[in-house]
Amino acid sequence: MASITIRNLDSAVKEALRRRAAAHGRSMEEEARIYLAELASAETGLAPLAGEAAVAAPPRASSGSLSGKRILLIIGGGIAAYKCLDLIRRLRERGAGVRCVLTKAAGEFVTPLAVGALTADRVFTDLFSREDEHDVGHIRLSREADLIVVAPATADLIAKMANGLANDLASAVLLATDKKVLVAPAMNPRMWSHPATKRNRATLAGDGVAFVGPGRGEMAEAGEAGEGRMAEPLEIVAAVETLLDDRAKPLMGQRIVMTSGPTHEPIDPVRYIANRSSGKQGHAIAAALARLGADVRLVSGPVSIPDPKGVQVVHVETAREMRDAVEQLLPADAGIFVAAVADYRVASAADHKMKKQAGAKAPVLELIENPDILATVGHHAKRPRLVIGFAAETRDVETYARAKLEKKGADIIVANDVSSATGIGTLGVMGADRNRVHIVSKSGVEHWPEMGKDAVAERLAALVAERLQTITV
Ligand SMILES: Cc1cc2nc3c(=O)[nH]c(=O)nc-3n(C[C@H](O)[C@H](O)[C@H](O)COP(=O)(O)O)c2cc1C
Repeated sequence: MASITIRNLDSAVKEALRRRAAAHGRSMEEEARIYLAELASAETGLAPLAGEAAVAAPPRASSGSLSGKRILLIIGGGIAAYKCLDLIRRLRERGAGVRCVLTKAAGEFVTPLAVGALTADRVFTDLFSREDEHDVGHIRLSREADLIVVAPATADLIAKMANGLANDLASAVLLATDKKVLVAPAMNPRMWSHPATKRNRATLAGDGVAFVGPGRGEMAEAGEAGEGRMAEPLEIVAAVETLLDDRAKPLMGQRIVMTSGPTHEPIDPVRYIANRSSGKQGHAIAAALARLGADVRLVSGPVSIPDPKGVQVVHVETAREMRDAVEQLLPADAGIFVAAVADYRVASAADHKMKKQAGAKAPVLELIENPDILATVGHHAKRPRLVIGFAAETRDVETYARAKLEKKGADIIVANDVSSATGIGTLGVMGADRNRVHIVSKSGVEHWPEMGKDAVAERLAALVAERLQTITV
């Protein structure tokens, strides 16, 4: 596949691409590739119609779990082929585009007419079809799907796959593919437990082919029971969803260290200095990054919200504990510091509860500076590739944010106006469900409109994914 690196995208274009990618649950890289392919189809008239071997585009309006995914279903010649009619329906109702290849034997069990009616597409059967092969159709069929599903996978098809045969369209497609393959075997239990089939299964598993089923139960043949029943269509759909899930995980393998929430700086054993941070924004970002596949380690100050899903959380109280926990979590690919860390702490917190003394002067608390976690990481020997800090200000938000960039060694400062003047929340952004942020980096400022903290989190996670990977299509 040709490789193009996109740089210096106009921010409006970048934003549109980011939104499209998020809506389809894809990385920006994938989205850019698919968008260019769509554009090329429209421009050249090479839309996937008769004679064209591209995998059918999924219904655009769908927002199902498989929205935007293209599945090539290879139907083998077994009794269970009839279940594929239901499988096609289930996949399509989840938003997938389904294109089918039928083996010659499959044609004995289901008709291309029925399959074509359900896929709303033409059905491919013949390796030597002039119509299909004018454009080396089997290669394109194999490459242009997101996933190939073989169901029912007959003993014969499994043997061909394991041995690299390519003497019909189905096997040629399977040999030519560079995509994931999911196999749903269906056969008589004796065929399934035959040493030859066992060897072939092991070979395929070693090649990275995924299996769903078979299950145990009655066979179509009277009096036969055992292991060999094809998985039910919904089980196959679930396996498809799982296998395709990582396509929406552009941060897979990236370790991200984060902070969220306030810190509590003790005055005495029962009193502390704190701030209004609820942890809602930081926790939402941690969850959004985890959904994109990142290995997120969150150091959280004391908050009353649950730990974000899929994130490993270290709970701390004070700024010093937070700094120590963060340093222990380095190295990381990115560090995102959302916590509202107290700038100062009491120089010497009392060991016992401070008592009010009748007639005595009010105590004076001496404050000393707390460690600056963002600056510590921004200038650290183990500095992550990407360092993002949040700046909560109540005035001159952008000016302060720009100054912080340099001083703290950050790549991006997410500035938010936490004053009550924003009209967000009764006491301002802290603790509220909405936020309005400005993304300040060396290349300028992006003003994001007011939106829910979850939406800010989604967009920021997409931005992190974009920053951590060069967009190569
Ligand atoms: C009625 C009938 C049912 C069959 N069911 C299966 C089956 O469930 N699994 C299987 O592996 N083969 C089954 N076969 C045998 C296959 O159809 C045969 O091996 C064929 O060559 C498979 O071709 P294909 O792998 O290209 O689809 C069946 C054959 C017949 C006649």
